[in-house]
Amino acid sequence: NLPKEGIISCSSPSNIALIKYWGKRPVQLPENASISFTLDACKTTTSLKYVLQDLISEDFNFTLLFEGEPKPEFRPKIKKFFERIEKYVPFLKKYTFTIETSNTFPHSSGIASSASGMSALAFCVMQLEQMIHPEMTNEECLQKASFLARLGSGSACRSIEGPMTVWGKHQEITGSSDAFAVKFPYPIHQHFENYQDTILLIDKGEKQVSSTVGHDLMHGHPFASKRFEQATENITKLKEVLTSGDLDAFIQIVESEALTLHAMMMTSLPYFILMKPNTLSVIEKIWAYRKKAGSKICFTLDAGANVHVLYPNSEKEQVLEFITSELVAYCQNGQYICDKVGWGAKIL
Ligand code: PMV
Repeated sequence: NLPKEGIISCSSPSNIALIKYWGKRPVQLPENASISFTLDACKTTTSLKYVLQDLISEDFNFTLLFEGEPKPEFRPKIKKFFERIEKYVPFLKKYTFTIETSNTFPHSSGIASSASGMSALAFCVMQLEQMIHPEMTNEECLQKASFLARLGSGSACRSIEGPMTVWGKHQEITGSSDAFAVKFPYPIHQHFENYQDTILLIDKGEKQVSSTVGHDLMHGHPFASKRFEQATENITKLKEVLTSGDLDAFIQIVESEALTLHAMMMTSLPYFILMKPNTLSVIEKIWAYRKKAGSKICFTLDAGANVHVLYPNSEKEQVLEFITSELVAYCQNGQYICDKVGWGAKIL
């Protein structure tokens, strides 16, 4: 009783880690637990057209279109993803697929599309799985979608649900697992409702270091074990802060995590500096504004030069004024994206 043919369309957002995942073991298992805000505006939309074949093929049968164009360079990643997940969704080779995908954010904006892209595809595959196994509960589907997304790109598992998710087994987070992300399972203080993330596109160039290479550099890194311990402690602290609403403590943890991620890259062999001069100028401006305006604005960084400016919804108007008058000048072509916390993957 396999469905014969049809189209499934889903969207899934990117996410921004507050406690960073940097360092993994096979296969795609994190060295420490991480926690992120699920985003809203930065997302991938994917449609999966499936046609049941008469014979099971030897290899995966799929055509790939990115923003309407064939993208042969994305094929190996998708193929590897299918190879990894086949064990868990054994119907893949019975179908011919056409995968059409597009992002809301500009291509090569320095915003990683792997989290939104892989989670959107995993979510589509799970819709097909649910047609085959209608007895699966929604909760089971969400969990398995996160599990599959993880096998595509580690941090992608944190995009399936929102507004905050935790990935990685942690003693103090009930239900947490290395295999999939879970929704942050405690009440979140209202200060964090609708939390804003304005992403400043400082440098839109190709990534200097792929995250695969980056994670690998943590093997044999002189500070690795201390870093994994610190991340674990920071999750405990952040859990407390998210329930108490202590924004000063939030700022301290989040900024320290961002700088530590970059410190790990600066102290690996080979070493990398992924910030640009404008990244540092923006950080200094944020610190000065915070002091002057008594604001709760802070920053975080990915493995690149762009800056995520985080702030409570209550400060939106003033902070946007500050960003447009003082920070946009440091962005490449003046580009930035207004985003905020969101709710994860959706069927369209
Ligand atoms: O999911 P990956 O393998 O692309 O790794 C992402 C790592 C960071 O974005 C730098 C941190 C994180 O936790 O998202």
